Amino acid sequence: MLNDIQNVLFSEEQIQHKVAELGETISRDYEGRNPLVICVLKGAFVFMADLVKRITIPLEIDFMAVSSYGQSTKSSGVVKIIKDLDVSVEGRNVLIVEDIIDSGLTLSYLIDVLERRNALSVSIVTLFDKPSGRSVELEPDYKGFTLPDEFIVGYGLDYAEKYRNLPFIGILKPEIYTKP
Ligand code: PRP
Ligand code: MN
Ligand code: MG
Repeated sequence: MLNDIQNVLFSEEQIQHKVAELGETISRDYEGRNPLVICVLKGAFVFMADLVKRITIPLEIDFMAVSSYGQSTKSSGVVKIIKDLDVSVEGRNVLIVEDIIDSGLTLSYLIDVLERRNALSVSIVTLFDKPSGRSVELEPDYKGFTLPDEFIVGYGLDYAEKYRNLPFIGILKPEIYTKP
């Protein structure tokens, strides 16, 4: 698996440092608001687990599974809800946790769904942002790192379901995804 990585873009230490900063800011902003923190599966599961440990105020968590990429490195543009929330978002301050925003399609779809279900507020925290990939206008409320236009894996992010378990962010060797 490590053989498939061309270079490390963000080390485990760099990521943990940023996650701690985000946790502090979010703890301040959501004081007294009992946020419902929603993890967008699967990609965000590693970030979610680390982030909530750095948030020092009471909160609740839930999970939603959506997918738009399938086996490809490009978004299909069609977002599917694979697993819905267990709890109601009505009247709740919702914080959506994402690993990465690229085209913005996944999140603009989700925000729309949650607003129609009468959430009191909907905000986004993403660890990675790739603004060059946008096909819809969307700005995260909190973000970790801005990325160049490169396909990254690790720390929850996959290529064809692999590499999610790497503790760092790496760039794949091009031959991995150009293989016939
Ligand atoms: C990836 C990533 C984000 C989304 C971002 O998920 O985890 O959820 O794509 O892309 P977008 O801004 O262009 O919509 P993916 O669909 O690959 O599912 P996964 O999280 O299960 O890997
Ligand atoms: Mn995802
Ligand atoms: Mg994926």
